Amino acid sequence: MKNKRLSLQQRLTDWMTGRLRAVFPDMDFASVEMQVQPTANPQFGDFQWNAAMKLAPRAGKKPRDVAGALVGSVPPPEGVARLEIAGPGFVNFYLDDASLARELMEMEADERLGVPEPGRGHRVVMDYSSPNVAKPMHIGHIRSTVIGNALDRLHRFMGYDVIADNHLGDWGTQFGIIIMGYRHFLDREALANAPVEELERVYRVSYERSKEDEEWLNQARAELVKLQAGDPDNLALWEEFIRLSKQEFDRTYKRLGVSFDIERGESWYRDRLAGVISLLKERGLYEESEGAGVVKLDAEGLPLSIVRKSDGGYNYTTTDLATVISRVEEFNPDRIVYVTDERQQLHFRQFFAIAAKLGFKVKLEHVWFGLMRLPDATFSTREGNVIKLERLLDEAVSRAREMVRAASPDMPEENQELVAEAVGIGAVKYADLSQNPQSLVTFTWEKALSLEGNSAPYLQYAYARIASVRDKYHEQFPGRNFLDYPIVLGEEVERRLSILLTRFGDVLVTATNACRPNYLADYLYDLSQIYSAFYQNVPFLKAQDGVRESRIRLCDLVARTLRTGLALLGISSPDRI
Ligand code: ARG
Repeated sequence: MKNKRLSLQQRLTDWMTGRLRAVFPDMDFASVEMQVQPTANPQFGDFQWNAAMKLAPRAGKKPRDVAGALVGSVPPPEGVARLEIAGPGFVNFYLDDASLARELMEMEADERLGVPEPGRGHRVVMDYSSPNVAKPMHIGHIRSTVIGNALDRLHRFMGYDVIADNHLGDWGTQFGIIIMGYRHFLDREALANAPVEELERVYRVSYERSKEDEEWLNQARAELVKLQAGDPDNLALWEEFIRLSKQEFDRTYKRLGVSFDIERGESWYRDRLAGVISLLKERGLYEESEGAGVVKLDAEGLPLSIVRKSDGGYNYTTTDLATVISRVEEFNPDRIVYVTDERQQLHFRQFFAIAAKLGFKVKLEHVWFGLMRLPDATFSTREGNVIKLERLLDEAVSRAREMVRAASPDMPEENQELVAEAVGIGAVKYADLSQNPQSLVTFTWEKALSLEGNSAPYLQYAYARIASVRDKYHEQFPGRNFLDYPIVLGEEVERRLSILLTRFGDVLVTATNACRPNYLADYLYDLSQIYSAFYQNVPFLKAQDGVRESRIRLCDLVARTLRTGLALLGISSPDRI
């Protein structure tokens, strides 16, 4: 593996830290944010360091004097033309254009665009999507699939050894009720047309009945016990439910470009549940309470967790404990990341606390997201409150098709169809990924499909336009290779664009570590906006020889960065729209 240079931002930060150690050898600055940050306004240089304010009391000096002591009398670090102490004690860095251009050419020469692989040697299990059998995927599973898959892609790109696991809900107490519903209320024709919808319907009818009819409920319980004891008829039905559900889920995954390394549903762990209880007993963590088996979590400030119900059945937490035990045994990961909606926060806190009590060292992380709101008018036909992902995707693609037809009427229909699929699916994914996952967002078609705002179609159009500049260059200057000319930076907007380009790796590291794909989305949006300003304000193909080539090189680098970034969000970038 090639050893990559640290990013510009990291090198400047390290330089400042080195200065601090040299000038104030005894100072403790562990808790101070030392990062050199890119500036929003070129008036303050290209990068800025503002820790002097925080360090001043420790040094017993004014912030400006701290900054002066650190950088006043030394030559600037490599790549920096000059340093300036501004205002109360900011240190502003002005990059040297030639070094910045070199930086870009290094990025350009690397197929990974200079992005480091800090994840090398670390294994992560990513548990996402995980819908429940015999129920349609709801909006929570959509978000888990889209966000989980982006995190999966980001981690892989950063060099982590990722094991993506779809932890299907295929062994719950719902199966007794479904079996009763299936035997008494099934509409065969409906099952053939829309299997999961029909399974969900018979479940609902049977569930309603169980609430009023004690005898019905008892029978459902008896069917569940039979299934759990391995009754062949019930097992065959259960397998059929799984087969039908998986068929439907897989269709959606294929369309979304999502795939898993393993798909072990809850049922995969069913023979290990009794072992979890024995282990808890062995460690003195298990207590009986009102006939149920519980683990008390008072010390953690959490409500007790029921691991064994009074009827002897196990529950969600027990299965998750069995899953951790098995994953550690088999894969020995450094981390396990679970992606679900916010309603499961307590479950994961309890279950992580029990795993810690059991002495598991693996880092368990719950990445939760808020539920996305879909206004009533999202669909042309009312669907009830279950939002079906397939319907959402179909609607997105059909709206995208109209856009593509309007924009490129001369494109062959087959291509229009491919582009519509890429734009429609991209729009739905991006609407999800571009938001802070933990805030409440409302999905609207206007925003998701907007050509002006922060949306997938906007970025896809930007990419296609940039790609077309490259093509025009080759048409107008046949036989010439823009790579034969160096990158030379002159215009301010050109410099801003370049600095942003060099930040790609830093942004990916931050987005991955924080499990926040929206940081990457924001970056891509900024990049395409600065690119637009660049494209509109300086001549490209009409520029003089050499300058033209330098600009095409930048343009090509922006295109590659956008394409790579979008791919990490699971969004494709057609060359023409
Ligand atoms: N099947 C669950 C649900 O739909 C999500 C499972 C999440 N993963 C886990 N290991 N608990 O709510």
